[in-house]
Amino acid sequence: MIPQARPLLGPAEEQAALRIMQSGMLAVGPESEEFENRLGQWLATPPVVTTSNGFSALHLGLLALGLKPGAEVILPCISSCSAIRDAVAAAGGVPVFADVSSQTPNLDAASVERCLSPRTGAILCPHHLGCVADLDELLQFGVPVLEDCAQSPGALYRDQPVGTLGRVGAFSFYPTKVMAAIDGGAVASRDPAVLAVARDKRYYGGIQDDQYRLNYKLSNLNAAVGLVQLARLPELLERRRAIGQRYAQALPAMGGIVQGSVVFRFGLRTRPGRTQPLLDRLLQAQVPCRREWYFLCPAEAFPQARQWHDDFLTLPTYPALSDEQVDWIAERLARAVQPGDLLESI
Ligand SMILES: Cc1ncc(COP(=O)(O)O)c(C=O)c1O
Repeated sequence: MIPQARPLLGPAEEQAALRIMQSGMLAVGPESEEFENRLGQWLATPPVVTTSNGFSALHLGLLALGLKPGAEVILPCISSCSAIRDAVAAAGGVPVFADVSSQTPNLDAASVERCLSPRTGAILCPHHLGCVADLDELLQFGVPVLEDCAQSPGALYRDQPVGTLGRVGAFSFYPTKVMAAIDGGAVASRDPAVLAVARDKRYYGGIQDDQYRLNYKLSNLNAAVGLVQLARLPELLERRRAIGQRYAQALPAMGGIVQGSVVFRFGLRTRPGRTQPLLDRLLQAQVPCRREWYFLCPAEAFPQARQWHDDFLTLPTYPALSDEQVDWIAERLARAVQPGDLLESI
């Protein structure tokens, strides 16, 4: 069976890792700083603060916003990862769950508005599946926005990279994300004060005072691998787009297809009652396909998230898929999807 996800780490990444292992500068070294500078250049921001993973980037991002213990953080009620909810708890915040939009699996501004209170400290907004959330709508509330770009590095909103529009952006370089540093993450911001707090809180090493800090630093080894992947990012993004296009061409009409500007995975909005039979047919044909979202809280109050949760499937678009594998999946997809399985419009 073709796996649901697989990293694309090639000879250049191997050589970079070997070079660092032989250098002995494993924890910190020149690559650590270079990766932060290059990520900042790519985003057109000051150098970012790299972290051990996407979760630590979210946690540090919330601390850098100055979130007070007990402050409320509004976030979507569904995700493919509980990191967003758990980072709020780690930062001492109280998660307040909002519904997602009918158009994208991202925060719905009207639902967010209903969640606002005098205790709101931040809005945590993932750009799920490479689909960009409606940032204009979310920014207008005047509450600090933390963009979670774990599934969307390289996506643009009004010509600006995601992760640079809110007060803070958090990135993940997990092995199966768009850009892998074997593991890793980053906090980005245009605000030097925010970056200074994230940098200070990231690591206790070498400081002796009474302040509470963490150990979320990225190793030099990860930074060296991340540098190679960052240089390859245009190629990696293009390959994902091409794979998504190949699947789309295999389907009779464009209805029901959900692809972000970064094609993290290829999404299909299905009609109620058709989802499980289609998933069964695809899995029977050995096509790597899955349901994407789960609820981070009780589901009753969230009708739009319910639809995304119940009637949505995704297929992999990772660049390590060979042309033959992509064609193989596309052909079986075309055979499995029956008339009326997909929503005509979303
Ligand atoms: C939307 C989202 N946010 C955050 C994370 C956390 O990233 P990491 O696994 O690097 O901690 C993930 C990981 O799957 C994710 O999908």
